[in-house]
Amino acid sequence: MSSAEVAVQVFRKLENEDLRVLQVIETAMSKHEFVPKEQIAKFSEFSMRETDFRLSRLNKLWLIRQTRGAYVGHTLNYAGYDCLAINALVKASVLEAFGKPLGVGKEADVYDALSPERERIAVKFHRLGRISFRQTRRKRNYTAQRVNWLFQSRRAAEKEFKALKLVSQKRVAVPRPISQNRHVIVMGMIEGAELAEWKEIPKPTKILEEILFNIRKAYIKAGVIHADLSEYNVILKPNMRILIIDWPQYVTKEHPNAQQLLARDVKNILGYFERKRMLKTKLKKALAYVTGNSKAASF
Ligand SMILES: Nc1ncnc2c1ncn2[C@@H]1O[C@H](COP(=O)(O)OP(=O)(O)OP(=O)(O)O)[C@@H](O)[C@H]1O
Ligand SMILES: [Mg+2]
Repeated sequence: MSSAEVAVQVFRKLENEDLRVLQVIETAMSKHEFVPKEQIAKFSEFSMRETDFRLSRLNKLWLIRQTRGAYVGHTLNYAGYDCLAINALVKASVLEAFGKPLGVGKEADVYDALSPERERIAVKFHRLGRISFRQTRRKRNYTAQRVNWLFQSRRAAEKEFKALKLVSQKRVAVPRPISQNRHVIVMGMIEGAELAEWKEIPKPTKILEEILFNIRKAYIKAGVIHADLSEYNVILKPNMRILIIDWPQYVTKEHPNAQQLLARDVKNILGYFERKRMLKTKLKKALAYVTGNSKAASF
C-alpha cells in the first residue's frame, strides 16, 4: 500500500489530538533530528499519559516512526505528512473525497479526487527520495535524510504550483492550478493518457505543432522552460488536444543553462515524433520557432 493510500484510509479515523501531535512533530523536526516525547508533551500541552497514548496510536497507524538512539525520538513518515496536508486541504474546502490512483510512480503519487462542489480534481503528492529511502535505510543518517526529503518534496510542490500559475496565466495548456499545501498540489483533473501510451496518433504533425506552440508560449510569454519534457509529460486528451504536466524542475529564461535545457526539451519531443511517427524536424528550425526567432509554425 502506498503512503497516500495509508493516509487516505487512516485520515478519517484521526482525532484532533492526533493531528495536533503530528503538527507538533512537524514543527519540531525543523530543529531536532528526532523529536523527544517530552518536547511533544510540552508543545501540544498534553499530559505525558495522553502524549504516550497518541504516540503509540500514530506509530501503529504508520504515520510516525520511532527511533531508538540515546533517547527515543519521533519523526513523521510520508503518510503522516500526507495526513497533515490532507487535513489542511479539507479545512480549506478544497478537497472532499479521494478516488482511485491515477499514477503511482517514482517521485509522485497522483490521485483522482472530488472537491466539495463535486468537481473532479487531481491531487499530486510529491515523494522525493522514495527510491533512495530503500537504499539508505541501513545507513546511520537515514532519519536526517528522510526529514530532508520531506522538506525537499514540499519545495518541489511549491515550485510546481508556482510554475503552473505562471504558465496558465499565459494560457499555456497545463492542468488548472487549484491549491497547494506542504508537499501536495491540487489541480484540474484531466482525461487522457501520456503521449507515450498512445498506439496511434491521428494527425501527428498537428500535435507536434501544438506542443511546440505551447513550449514557445511558456518561453516567450512566461519566461519559463519545463526542463523535463518528454512524451511522458505530455497528456493527449480524447479530443486530441494536449496538456503539458509535471513542472517542479522548471527554470526561467535567466537560468545559466536555460538554452541547453530548452534545447533538450525540444530535442526529446522531436526525437519521439521521429522514432514513433516518422516525422523528421530540424532541431535548429524548431528552436528558432520556440524562442521567437522565426514565425514558422509548420515544419
Ligand atoms: N492533472 C492530472 N489529471 C489526471 N492525471 C494526471 C494529472 N497529473 C498527473 N496525472 C497522471 O499521473 C502521472 C504522474 O504525474 P507527473 O508526471 O506529474 O508526476 P511524476 O513526477 O512524473 O511522477 P512519476 O515519478 O511517477 O513519473 C502522469 O503521467 C499522469 O498519468
Ligand atoms: Mg511525469
